[in-house]
Amino acid sequence: MIIRTEKEADYDRVRQVVDKAFGNQDEESALVERIRQSDGFIPSLSLVAESAEEGIAGHALFSKASVVDGQRGVDVLVLAPIAISPSRQKQGIGTRLIDEGLKRSRELGFPGVLLIGHPGYYPRLGFRPASAYGLVLKQFQVPDEVFMAIELRENGLEALRGGELRYPASFGIQKDQ
Ligand SMILES: CC(C)(COP(=O)(O)OP(=O)(O)OC[C@H]1O[C@@H](n2cnc3c(N)ncnc32)[C@H](O)[C@@H]1OP(=O)(O)O)[C@@H](O)C(=O)NCCC(=O)NCCS
Repeated sequence: MIIRTEKEADYDRVRQVVDKAFGNQDEESALVERIRQSDGFIPSLSLVAESAEEGIAGHALFSKASVVDGQRGVDVLVLAPIAISPSRQKQGIGTRLIDEGLKRSRELGFPGVLLIGHPGYYPRLGFRPASAYGLVLKQFQVPDEVFMAIELRENGLEALRGGELRYPASFGIQKDQ
């Protein structure tokens, strides 16, 4: 299994993987498409896991969002969505995609990655509740433990304490939210 940058030729297969992983609804694959067409899209942070035998079995997308504090806005990354083919889940593929994404994100100089996700999964990869860094989320009403974050350098997120994560419009956010 290799982890590599997604190419346009992968889009159809990625859509199938995402739809299957999320139960054949197209909500998450539509999100992938909106992000790809947005300013927040960073092609090298759209990753696929591929094996020679069965092709693409997983996909993870890190894209740009902003932590806002008063007039100040700082670019961060959000991880969404991540999807592994149902037959290949729990084999370490998600972990490898996330590890590679975090490594690339760090190399690009981003201060941290934030997400909304399963609190049983992400802490093993180094994520903590975003509230530990004093970060807030107002656009989505979610329990504290599902809004998580990881710093990519010392004080990367600590320095943004008190800030609010703002997802961009590609996430279905209205302007006044
Ligand atoms: C969640 C997901 C990305 C994890 O990827 P994966 O390749 O299956 O996970 P890994 O092999 O890296 O890690 C496996 C471990 O994570 C745990 N895990 C997987 N999904 C989990 C979940 N939803 N909640 C809690 N723990 C989970 C497994 O139980 C396993 O634990 P163990 O090692 O103690 O047995 C994948 O299962 C998936 O695509 N799920 C459907 C889509 C989805 O929910 N996406 C994420 C939205 S936040």
